[in-house]
Amino acid sequence: MSSSTTTLVTNIGSLVTNDTAHAESPTDNLGLIHDAAVLIDGDRIAWAGRAAAAPPADTAYDAKGRAVIPGFVDSHSHLVFAGDRTQEFNARMSGRAYSAGGIRTTVAATRAATDEALEANVTRYLREALRQGTTTFETKSGYGLTTHDEARALRIASRHTDEVTYLGAHIVSPDYADDPAAYVALVTGEMLDACAPHARWIDVFCEKGAFDGDQARAILTAGKARGLHPRIHANQLSHGPGVQLAAELDAASADHCTHLTDADVDALANSRTVATLLPGAEFSTRAAWPDARRLLDAGATVALSTDCNPGSSFTSSMPFCIALAVRDMGMTPDEAIWSATAGGAAALRRTDIGRVTPGARADLVLLDAPSHVHLAYRPGVPLVSEVWRGGVRTT
Ligand code: NIG
Ligand code: FE
Repeated sequence: MSSSTTTLVTNIGSLVTNDTAHAESPTDNLGLIHDAAVLIDGDRIAWAGRAAAAPPADTAYDAKGRAVIPGFVDSHSHLVFAGDRTQEFNARMSGRAYSAGGIRTTVAATRAATDEALEANVTRYLREALRQGTTTFETKSGYGLTTHDEARALRIASRHTDEVTYLGAHIVSPDYADDPAAYVALVTGEMLDACAPHARWIDVFCEKGAFDGDQARAILTAGKARGLHPRIHANQLSHGPGVQLAAELDAASADHCTHLTDADVDALANSRTVATLLPGAEFSTRAAWPDARRLLDAGATVALSTDCNPGSSFTSSMPFCIALAVRDMGMTPDEAIWSATAGGAAALRRTDIGRVTPGARADLVLLDAPSHVHLAYRPGVPLVSEVWRGGVRTT
């Protein structure tokens, strides 16, 4: 018998479990249950099924017919930064193209910020995300680009999440503009030594104007040797070697995947590497959308995330990303909800989140809607009415 308190969330109009044991057809990944209930024991899910078959519990909580989905897993964000880039956004909306060069503006502001200011910023954007249903998030360094500033960013991030990513290789530091090889040596040497204890993942922006395929391979291989697992900013602004490298190195995720050849799609479909699509970036840079349909039809696993950062995608809203993915990237509402929950979990190689199954963390989002489809059907409407994380109601 459990010693913790059990709560039965009941009168759920429709419940997305992401558990194929509840699937009504072989193509149903959501494992949707109507007239459902969920038993929470401490911080875990103990049971999910039809309310009529629910086991007894210490207390009951009435969901009042609302739809319930797993908490969103935002597997790609850049929250440790200072300042914003309103002027750059305005210029883009007047026709200027996005370029990685804008990252330098945020690097300067972040280096100049106090620890307290950075901490306050992370807290603010996390609260914002939580109110919109995000119960797990990954976040990166990458706006420090010195050993001190990268390690500081990771220390701050790790106070808020276990999913922390070392991105010293975001761009070549402006201090090394004349000697990129020396910067790669720093990122794979002293900076890695200082950062590895604070991170789970290592990432690199593999792109023209950032790091080429050989540099990216060297950086990720060095990180792997220090026990960090790779993920890659790949094929965002142009075709390039990033996706193939991700598959070669068994990266958990290739992120962006906007410009893909057929060989890139095959590489993703035939590897464990998740394709993480970030529609907030295409929205905010007025770029062509990634083709989720092509990836899904080929059999690749697709995640959806915000990429929240002050340059290319200043949104913390997973519902917004879902709506964009459905409208503009060829996803069905069911696929988009799966990708924003179970897909994000796969991109973090986690099985304890992104699903409502016995043993999973009790992360639930209650929607002011009869169905999860409304997240795409009613874009821009604040449908997230309650968020439960680890069995505790947070909003
Ligand atoms: O994922 N592409 C690289 N990094 C971010 C953008 C960072 C910035 O513009 O500040 C991204 O889109
Ligand atoms: Fe990013």
